[in-house]
Amino acid sequence: MTAQTEALVFDAYGTLFDVHSVTRLAESHFPGKGTALSQAWRAKQLDYTWLRSLMGRYDDFGTVTADALDWSLDSLGLAAPPGTRTALLRAYRELAPFPEVRGALERLARGRMLAILSNGHPDMLDAVIDHNDLRVWFGDRVLSVHDAAVYKPDPRVYALATARLERPAASIGFVSSNGWDAAGAKSFGFATWWVNRAKAPPERLGSPPDGVVADLAELATRLG
Ligand code: LAC
Repeated sequence: MTAQTEALVFDAYGTLFDVHSVTRLAESHFPGKGTALSQAWRAKQLDYTWLRSLMGRYDDFGTVTADALDWSLDSLGLAAPPGTRTALLRAYRELAPFPEVRGALERLARGRMLAILSNGHPDMLDAVIDHNDLRVWFGDRVLSVHDAAVYKPDPRVYALATARLERPAASIGFVSSNGWDAAGAKSFGFATWWVNRAKAPPERLGSPPDGVVADLAELATRLG
């Protein structure tokens, strides 16, 4: 992949925003269990997107996220008063970006169109983007699976980006920290960067990424 990539499409949760930034809040409500709750919540949230898609039953990401939280609380034997549950769900609308995100977006935006394509419901995405003042980089190019009523990595989701950006898939660079999302995007036809924040082994899904970086600052350096 070259520096000629005209458009970059970013995954949101885990790539721009740290889903585990809820850990501190979780820990304050459930001492000693914050990390376990955050990990279980994220894993179950993704399971539920895939399972609902296989069942042909779409519920929006807010519903999936709340269901996953309830399951995770149950699985850890944690009883959450309504106020705690509400606070945890609200925190998802105010997730922190990873530390290098702002500086990297500024560099990556030079001469390129930037967009987001996420599982998130449009309201959730607007909330977290505006909470962190990142709108300037994306404008109205914030795309949600909600318009396809199915979750990643269904190809109909990635097709939302080619339609909205009016570019062929191969001219679009897709950026995700989720290895399975990068594989889905590559399978669809995007040029793909995997942001391997977790230093995870490569996915065995076929469709390996075109490039692997540790974070978005490295991506900005590689793309120039
Ligand atoms: C997203 C999920 C993959 O933002 O985290 O689409």
